Amino acid sequence: MTETRCRRFVDQVAFITGGAKGIGRACALRFAQEGAHVVSFDLDEAANQETVARCQELGVEALAITGDVRDREAVQGAVAQVMERWGRLDVVVASAGIYTGGPLAQVPLEEWQETLETNLTGVFLVNQAVAPVLMAQGRGSIINIASMAGKTSFPGTASYSASKSGVIGLTRSVAMELAPHGVTANALCPGNTLTDMVRQVAEQVGASLGMSGEEWLAMRAEDCPMQRIAQPWEMAGVVAFLASEDARYLTGQAIEVDGGMVLC
Ligand SMILES: NC(=O)c1ccc[n+]([C@@H]2O[C@H](COP(=O)([O-])OP(=O)(O)OC[C@H]3O[C@@H](n4cnc5c(N)ncnc54)[C@H](O)[C@@H]3O)[C@@H](O)[C@H]2O)c1
Repeated sequence: MTETRCRRFVDQVAFITGGAKGIGRACALRFAQEGAHVVSFDLDEAANQETVARCQELGVEALAITGDVRDREAVQGAVAQVMERWGRLDVVVASAGIYTGGPLAQVPLEEWQETLETNLTGVFLVNQAVAPVLMAQGRGSIINIASMAGKTSFPGTASYSASKSGVIGLTRSVAMELAPHGVTANALCPGNTLTDMVRQVAEQVGASLGMSGEEWLAMRAEDCPMQRIAQPWEMAGVVAFLASEDARYLTGQAIEVDGGMVLC
């Protein structure tokens, strides 16, 4: 986490899916640091509790909700809980996601379905649950975490790329529908960012190429114009900007935060 002196979200409420780990946790901490109360919705109860405890140490209220973004009722129930407790919702970050990959011919149908359900249907359900609340308030920001894999494609990532391109299309439609109500919706497209997910990809893809996870990560860093892998807080900084007053006229965009990777 980087230090920031900005306090742009004092007393606002941020609802974050996938907040137990990685980019979602970095967003939770960033919003807490800037004064927002944080609700983190995640499958991983223990890690989610840790995120919430770290937010509380920053002097804000925080709530961990254990749930699955694929479960419509759980998502709707979580949003209802937020409204019951705080009566407002200002920022929504849909970060929960999984990575799957492998040669097209070998992708099991169940894996394709699970990827689409988590990464795309999950984001759809979150956006659907928060839209009426944000529209009624006449303000709010949705930031859906897509991926550079939604902007460009790589071999062996059919399910993941399809899900992330879907998030970008979904976000554009949500943006247009909610714009007249003062609500913005944008997608963030991270490049390789050092989280558990990318470590798992490094081990898996590295092994298929006969190299270690560390070697694979070093290769990915070399491929990147900025010659390095990102840190989660670098994503959180851009997410916070998208939720800030400075971004009130910015909507429907899919912003690459990838050190220039998609330009290659
Ligand atoms: N790390 C990267 O390099 C990278 C790059 C591009 C995009 N992304 C995207 O960023 C988002 C966050 O990834 P990360 O790297 O922080 O991963 P991560 O694995 O560190 O964290 C993902 C979190 O989502 C939660 N989660 C997964 N499935 C869930 C479900 N069904 N319901 C509720 N919670 C669920 C996990 O428990 C975990 O806490 C994902 O959408 C990912 O696709 C990551």
